[in-house]
Amino acid sequence: MKKMLVTLLSVVLCVSFLTACGDSGAGDVLTVGTNAEFPPFEYLGDDGQPDGFDVALIKAIGEKLGREVVIENLEFDSLVASIGTKIDVAIAAMTVTPERQEMVDFSDSYYEAVQYVIIPADSTIATAADLEGKTIGVQLGTTGDFIASEIPGVTVSSFKKAVDAVNDLINGRVDCVIVDRNPALVFAENFPGQVVSLEGVQFGFEPEYYAIAMPKGDTEMAEQINGALQELIEDGTFDELVATYIEQ
Ligand code: ARG
Repeated sequence: MKKMLVTLLSVVLCVSFLTACGDSGAGDVLTVGTNAEFPPFEYLGDDGQPDGFDVALIKAIGEKLGREVVIENLEFDSLVASIGTKIDVAIAAMTVTPERQEMVDFSDSYYEAVQYVIIPADSTIATAADLEGKTIGVQLGTTGDFIASEIPGVTVSSFKKAVDAVNDLINGRVDCVIVDRNPALVFAENFPGQVVSLEGVQFGFEPEYYAIAMPKGDTEMAEQINGALQELIEDGTFDELVATYIEQ
């Protein structure tokens, strides 16, 4: 009997030791990078703290995983390189691209997007052909930046914040801004009558897919994040967040 108890005790000890030392990360802080300049996905709330769809989504994922989420507000083009060092993962309306996939892994995609073109209300830009000779404002290191840079005969003006590109559009320093659909709609709404946003299909832009960027090769992290994401989709939380933050 005594022997059995000792065995049982050592099994319990072993299991708790393994659980504590396992790299499941449960209980650990999950440090998440974003660039809180991209409404409605991420922005600074009235209290100066990062808020938005992505912030709410990653907090809900953290809750499912039993990990406290700490948000680091970084420059967008520094996020990918910071994964695994300064931050554990990044959520930043980040499009899955083959170039980024060389440096990081992506979770399952959680949102479909496309680039839009914001123009002054009196602009004649309507199709891809009209972009020739124009100056295009973009956020540095974004897919909008990559797409604009591929268009022949244009000048690309890149900004650390997407909103600064929009400000230069208002000031007449750029002819249009290429930026993701939902932020384009928000920015256009902020300058009623002054700017218009045009759908990307008119310019031949392809759909893009947002996902959470994670350390390359960390399959355990990927399983946990994808599992939590799936649960949030199934229990309706995901749709609630879309309704709260995106489809207002
Ligand atoms: N979807 C675009 C990309 O991946 C833009 C994302 C910008 N996100 C941000 N939080 N500023 O390049």
